[in-house]
Amino acid sequence: MAKKRLAILISGRGSNMMALVAAARAPDYPAEVVAIVSSQPDAAGLAWARAEGLPATCIDPEAYASRQAFDGAVDRVLAEADAELVALAGFMRILSPQFVRKWHARQLNIHPSLLPAFKGLNPQAQALAAGVKISGCTVHFVTEDLDGGPIIAQTAVPVCEGDTAQALAARILRAEHALYPGALALVAAGRARLSDGRVTILAAAAT
Ligand code: GRF
Repeated sequence: MAKKRLAILISGRGSNMMALVAAARAPDYPAEVVAIVSSQPDAAGLAWARAEGLPATCIDPEAYASRQAFDGAVDRVLAEADAELVALAGFMRILSPQFVRKWHARQLNIHPSLLPAFKGLNPQAQALAAGVKISGCTVHFVTEDLDGGPIIAQTAVPVCEGDTAQALAARILRAEHALYPGALALVAAGRARLSDGRVTILAAAAT
């Protein structure tokens, strides 16, 4: 099966991007990375991607008058790269409804909580404040409902006594690095079927 052409959008450290890039280097992985876009010129992930020789671009929101103009610039990079799937990986901007609709069922995000719990900013601190004993991470399709799109895959991570938000975030991040490549592979391989706002995972075809 032809590999799906994947674009990754980042704003910072880029460790999930690195996990996706590493997975996509495997010959049998169903996606290849054709574009990396950073919304931050000084993002560590952008420097890493460039040093790796990956097709990485910065689109600085400061250079655009509106959200739509910025999103249009992102979309042009994706079109030039002939991207088929978009993975948000620590991308700290809300995309316009037009962009979200255009990439419906083809755009994924990872969030460090077991959604629908703890949407939005600082979900690890939210989890500690709520006193939950288990948190985790979620990969979901992106919809106009922030962190509310159909769930593709999740991993549970224990909350430990005495955890700080940083300690919990680090534990969850390790799980993210395994979860995201797996969830993306399900979508790229056509095994994540979206219907009525829910995702069904189809069994792998027998080889
Ligand atoms: C991750 O925790 C991700 O779930 C959240 O932002 C963080 C990004 O980290 N959306 P990194 O840039 O991938 O290292």
